[in-house]
Amino acid sequence: MAETTKITTLDNGPFLVKGSVIVADAEGNQFDSKSETVALCRCGGSGTRPFCDGSHTKLGFSSAERAG
Ligand code: FES
Repeated sequence: MAETTKITTLDNGPFLVKGSVIVADAEGNQFDSKSETVALCRCGGSGTRPFCDGSHTKLGFSSAERAG
């Protein structure tokens, strides 16, 4: 059975990705990340996109989706 990767939408913050994953740009080039957990920016304000750098807090990013 394939390993499952879980993506969690953090309230007012990034997508938290736990599990085996490769993050690539539109040309297929891979970002350097060897961690089993990565936080992907969804506020657009990170200085280290596509990764979250905590800027969402300063920007007052607001989003708290719920499933179902
Ligand atoms: S979600 Fe954290 S900097 Fe954008």
